[in-house]
Amino acid sequence: MNPVKITPDAIRALKRQGGRIAMLTAYDYPTARLLDECGIPLLLVGDSLGMVVLGYPDTTRVTMAEMEHHTRAAARAQTKALLGADLPYRTYDTPAEALANAKRLVAAGAEFVKAEGGREILPQIQAIHGAGIPFVGHLGMLPQHVLEEGGKYRIKGRDAAGRAKLWEDAAALAEAGVFAVVLELVAADVARQITENFPFVTLGIGSGPHCDGQVLVTPDLIGTFPWFTPKFVRPELNAAEQIRAAVGRWQAALPSGVTRPAATD
Ligand code: KIV
Repeated sequence: MNPVKITPDAIRALKRQGGRIAMLTAYDYPTARLLDECGIPLLLVGDSLGMVVLGYPDTTRVTMAEMEHHTRAAARAQTKALLGADLPYRTYDTPAEALANAKRLVAAGAEFVKAEGGREILPQIQAIHGAGIPFVGHLGMLPQHVLEEGGKYRIKGRDAAGRAKLWEDAAALAEAGVFAVVLELVAADVARQITENFPFVTLGIGSGPHCDGQVLVTPDLIGTFPWFTPKFVRPELNAAEQIRAAVGRWQAALPSGVTRPAATD
């Protein structure tokens, strides 16, 4: 494990070389270790943790303590991959709060932090980046704001105002020096323009094929959260079905219990 650690500069170099860049989520030790063995260069303890591990309806209930707990677990895999963690909802309202909580994630083992938003969180990004903590941005559909969106995950950048907002936010993140940006549910042509015009690495999720790389929530890819799969995901494995079958076989093969006489008074 960890023979040659991947760095933000190595990820930037992959963009220049036109390399394939993949990011997957990992919330625990075995998943981080397995994905690292597969050669995935970027791992994220995403706050999607809230839905696919903790059973919350969305990401807004995830706490710093939960993120730290899972970041510590994933970091124990001592991956070659660069391991990052999300700042959860309402933990980066001010630059001071953002920096203090970013430092907590770093202390738990994160090598970069990610937070959702553009110009509205620029002072927070500057505080984190200024302290030498690598930062990944997140533009487009912002899951931490899903309740303000009426509970709907909608594609961004379909109209002129949406495109202009994405462009201005991307410019602000580039100016702040972030090394990568997740583009979630961004219209494919806008994702392409951002990818071609800014130096940061774009990681698309539901944003078409023209980003520098792609990111997925691992349970969506392997089918361990079968009760909901986003439309844009093509699962590579139906692990839930395999688990059900394996458990069924094991249970059916159990030896029958010892018959005891009925209890009498
Ligand atoms: O929380 C998460 O898993 C994420 C990815 C979808 C990028 O933010």
